Amino acid sequence: MITNDIELTKIFLDNEFIIGLPTETVYGLAGNINSDKAIKSIFELKKRPLFNPLIVHVKSKNAISTVAQSIPDTAYQLAEAFWPGPMTLILPKKSGISDLITAGKPTVAVRVPNHEKALQLLDILDYPLAAPSANPFSSISPTSAEHVHQYFGKSLPLILQGGQCAKGIESTIIGFQNNQPLVYRLGTLSVDEIESYLGIKLPQSTNATDSPEAPGMLSKHYSPKTPLILTNSIEEAIEKYANKKIGLLTFGPHDLTYPCPIHLVLSENENLEEAAARLYAALHQLDEVDIDLIIAEKMPEIGLGCTINDRLMRASK
Ligand code: TXA
Ligand code: MG
Repeated sequence: MITNDIELTKIFLDNEFIIGLPTETVYGLAGNINSDKAIKSIFELKKRPLFNPLIVHVKSKNAISTVAQSIPDTAYQLAEAFWPGPMTLILPKKSGISDLITAGKPTVAVRVPNHEKALQLLDILDYPLAAPSANPFSSISPTSAEHVHQYFGKSLPLILQGGQCAKGIESTIIGFQNNQPLVYRLGTLSVDEIESYLGIKLPQSTNATDSPEAPGMLSKHYSPKTPLILTNSIEEAIEKYANKKIGLLTFGPHDLTYPCPIHLVLSENENLEEAAARLYAALHQLDEVDIDLIIAEKMPEIGLGCTINDRLMRASK
């Protein structure tokens, strides 16, 4: 069921069921952080490996201290500047936080989502919500309630309707080493924006091994079922795969020598925010049509363009 009813959603959560949660980035699969039953259901439904920890969603920055301890000053500064919003902080966890949520790590991921419905819900709950993105492991994240329903059908009894996600790509994850911030996952909040706010350059954790710092950084992730290639030169790629049924995904409009059966433009005015907001919905749409291959155009390597390229690159593995 897709519902607008926040009180009903609370009843489900109070009874240890999990629900589809709208946020400004992507929809989450959410459960009460104090219910092991709910947390286990999240891992089971998503088919997520237990080594991959969940993000805890809290209602306000004041609630940080209920899940984290020994919080670096920079974390408070970032929370003040960017919450509610698409930024997740990795902080030393409070001992009461379940090891299931943190996959046994000494840290917890936490954010305040910037979505009216999510905030209204968190406000009436007595507990924060653990929520990964509401997609089966390694597939494309959902940016509408309908995407979530398509993925899970009746196995997920309730999805809170929150419309299309305004941002459309996951949060940016910031961790700390020796109190110094570093980027664990590129996301909707551009690193440039964080750097200009803090007045420092942020190193990036490039760890993509078997035991990654943030498994969102696993090299294959965010993948459509259709094979995808990422290119700077769409004309050349179209020529090379001329014998295939191609779905084309470009940043702005293009006049093509060889038109493709389906061509989606992410932003008519080449606006990166609009392109990010539409990216996953476009990949979902391309996955639904009968094509052999998705050819995606690389975005300019600035700001959100870096995040979009990161997702397309992982989708192409
Ligand atoms: O925008 C978002 O972040 C969405 C919405 C629903 O909030 N959530 C999301 O969750 O993208 P998920 O589970 O798909 O991605 C969370 C990432 C994973 O890569 C996970 O490994 C990482 O956060 N993570 C969570 N806890 C962590 C921790 N303690 N240390 C390092 N990475 C952590
Ligand atoms: Mg995810």
